[in-house]
Amino acid sequence: MTSRRQFIAAGAAGLALGAAARAARSDAQTYPYSELEQRIARKDFRGMTKDVLPTPAMVVDIDLFEKNLKTMADSAKASPIYLRPHVKVHKSVDIAKRQQALGAIGVTTATIAESELMSDAGIKGVLWTKQPASVNNLMRAIALSKRDPTFMFVIDDPRVADEVEQAAGAAKVKCRVAVAVYAGLTRQGIANGQPALELAQKIHAAKNIQFEGFMAYSGGASHTKTFTARRQKSAEDLSGVQETVALAKKAGLPIGIVTGGSTGTYNIDHELGLTELECGSYVFMDTKYRHVGGKGNDDVYTDFDNSMSVLVTVDSKQHPQQVTIDYGNKAMIQTTDEVKGMPWLQVDRQGAEYGILRWKDGGNEIKVGDRVEIYCTNLDMSTNCYDRYYIAKGDQIVDVWPIMGRAGAAQR
Ligand SMILES: Cc1ncc(COP(=O)(O)O)c(C=O)c1O
Repeated sequence: MTSRRQFIAAGAAGLALGAAARAARSDAQTYPYSELEQRIARKDFRGMTKDVLPTPAMVVDIDLFEKNLKTMADSAKASPIYLRPHVKVHKSVDIAKRQQALGAIGVTTATIAESELMSDAGIKGVLWTKQPASVNNLMRAIALSKRDPTFMFVIDDPRVADEVEQAAGAAKVKCRVAVAVYAGLTRQGIANGQPALELAQKIHAAKNIQFEGFMAYSGGASHTKTFTARRQKSAEDLSGVQETVALAKKAGLPIGIVTGGSTGTYNIDHELGLTELECGSYVFMDTKYRHVGGKGNDDVYTDFDNSMSVLVTVDSKQHPQQVTIDYGNKAMIQTTDEVKGMPWLQVDRQGAEYGILRWKDGGNEIKVGDRVEIYCTNLDMSTNCYDRYYIAKGDQIVDVWPIMGRAGAAQR
């Protein structure tokens, strides 16, 4: 214990930590570690600073997170365009509820399991962005439509439309469905123009399905570098969709929604006929998005801040110009991750439980026992590996939010 204390003191001096961090380190020596889980369960965060957390741990900077949420909500209101944020990025009911409190009309989901989790937690207006292609998914989509009349999903195939119509009829429920149309990504979406119109008409005519409109996710545009190029790509990707919407209107179809969009194109999509945005990453941001460039056509996308990081510990330092951290493949380490406040460090893989930080050029020393925060490359992949967010105001933990539906049955 004594040597650990001496070590911490030496490390603190070497790192030139601020007064708050030094105070946090001395608290860490007396924190009742055996009570950590009980304290979290009863939301007793006294003395719970970042220093006492087990690592690797996901930490959310509450101030930056709230700023991101407000920036997006304000922008949507001003555009105007509705917001139905994608939850696959955060998988958190706590966050979905905060998004709704700021005006979101629902949430967007990637899987039926995510849809069930959100809806069962009381979130209204869930839009599932895949079609129920298996019997398992079909039966669950029908059951969820029955439990929650605000639930919607998409279809891009007439055969699935027939199956939904039949299953919904048998269950005596009317399902709410949008037609998924091609918007530059080859993963889904029926061809625009006549094929999309015919599917929309088929769904509109179905007795047990309510036609809601169209989904057009232009995923290729979202990470296109520079604002000008992104706007151009969005316009190209959504031109066919605009044609489909015009055809559907001409044919007298009632179009409730045209949904799509992303964090990269949130301030472009309203110009291109979308009525609502499915943005997800803006809540936390990741290093991939940080480099798409902002409206000023600069290199860094500063519209939203990196509000979430993975807190890791330096476990060993036996070789020059590198240290080992407790953040490895199981924790979704990527070589394109970035270290908060230390751009001179390069993140590298080392194994399932290990990662390396290498010195690219100069920069401060770090020592065994020090903690650094790492910005993830791809939020969806990373949040899937952790079970909770530690919510931090500065160094102090102020709340813990569970991450839902990450593995096993909950994920499927
Ligand atoms: C269907 C769908 N909509 C919207 C998004 C936008 O998400 P983001 O804002 O994270 O780019 C995604 C992301 O993959 C998606 O799959």
